[in-house]
Amino acid sequence: MSDATLFEQVKDEANRVDPYPLFARLRETPVSRQSDGTYVAATHAAIGSLLHDPRISSETLPPADRPKTGNPISDWIVKPIRDRITDTHRPFIFRDPPDHDALRKAVMHEFTQERVQLLRERSHVLVDEILDKHAGSTSFDIVDDLAYPLPVTIICELLGIPTEDEPQFHGWATQLATALEPDTMADTEKRSENSRTFETISEYMTGLIKEKRRHPKDDMLSGLAVDGVPGIPRMGDYDLIATSILMLVAGHETTVNLIANAMLALMRHPEEFARLRDDPSLAPRLIEEVQRYDPPVQFRTRRALADIPMGDVMIPEGADVILLLASGNRDPAVFTNPDRFDPDRGGIRHLGFGGGLHYCVGAPLARFEAEVALTALARRLDNPRLQADPPPYRPGSALRGPKHLRLSVDGIRRA
Ligand code: HEM
Repeated sequence: MSDATLFEQVKDEANRVDPYPLFARLRETPVSRQSDGTYVAATHAAIGSLLHDPRISSETLPPADRPKTGNPISDWIVKPIRDRITDTHRPFIFRDPPDHDALRKAVMHEFTQERVQLLRERSHVLVDEILDKHAGSTSFDIVDDLAYPLPVTIICELLGIPTEDEPQFHGWATQLATALEPDTMADTEKRSENSRTFETISEYMTGLIKEKRRHPKDDMLSGLAVDGVPGIPRMGDYDLIATSILMLVAGHETTVNLIANAMLALMRHPEEFARLRDDPSLAPRLIEEVQRYDPPVQFRTRRALADIPMGDVMIPEGADVILLLASGNRDPAVFTNPDRFDPDRGGIRHLGFGGGLHYCVGAPLARFEAEVALTALARRLDNPRLQADPPPYRPGSALRGPKHLRLSVDGIRRA
């Protein structure tokens, strides 16, 4: 029986630098009940099985409850109606079939080869521009200077959001991403703050979607707004707003963390950085290994729709279940020397993009963005060194990445 406070310790910011020893202890019991009543799945096999189990739901968000304003019309008429609308039009990462599948299918329909290829080419241009701007610098923050601006510009261009509006999303996206943190969802004040942010960003998206329906352009939001997918009704405004917010938030924080986590691993393994510089074709494998070794999404929460027996443990109906993806990725039953950073592992079955119905739709984007960024960094940074090891981390435990990753460099070469 493992310690029932282990997951509490995972969430504790004091363990942010290295939660992996805690995961090893959690894996001693494939599924364990924690003292707060949640169940944690920690082995690769248990997580894999639950990711594909139809008795596990993604509808984990508590009912919407906007803060009261003191105005009786708003509080007793408008608010309950808007709360009900929000409850029935959640972003599809928080929805189950059949709604989930229809919304996801519409998005996948818009993820065309041509769009992905064009954005890949754009990434090369953007990364070169960013590094050229810093040529001559002797200090470079991987997070602020590159890992943040690249994915944000790409997701805005994919969706068709004017890039000049992007700065206002930074705070909103960071705030909304906390919906993945269990402690945020358990805290009324933090939930209200999230609701307010959701409303602000919804207002922005409502205007943008109206514009896309009227004057569609060649971008994903226009496609979703005007095109239908055969056999699926066109998305209504509320679902389109929720979907665009989901894409924007999911495309913000996660890829930033992938690039930063990868660069941190490379700075700690300079021989791998040198190999990448000499042979850029190693990048795709290296990125898969980072997604295994130090994944930006460490866990996701689900809810049991029925009693689910898992070995000696019965997950009771209604219980929250944490799928500890980052722990499955270090499971010695699946990976030899799991705590070793080894980009030469072939065909790895990591859980860094999830699995099953909710497998990440943005994985191709995240992969090429990281590939373009890392190969350019390896080619152009002259003698990079970490200024702080460990770096300061972002506070959340579900989304993992450094707040800053400052490097000293002898120079940044021209493209
Ligand atoms: C390194 C970067 C990324 C990582 C590590 C990541 C990870 C994940 C994971 C683990 C899931 C599964 C969630 C679950 O099972 O509940 C997921 C779902 C999702 N991701 Fe990503 N993601 C990344 C980048 C992106 C990007 C760039 C986009 C948008 C373009 C995106 C959009 C989504 C969406 C919409 C879902 C929900 C899919 C569904 O519910 O069917 N992700 N992602």
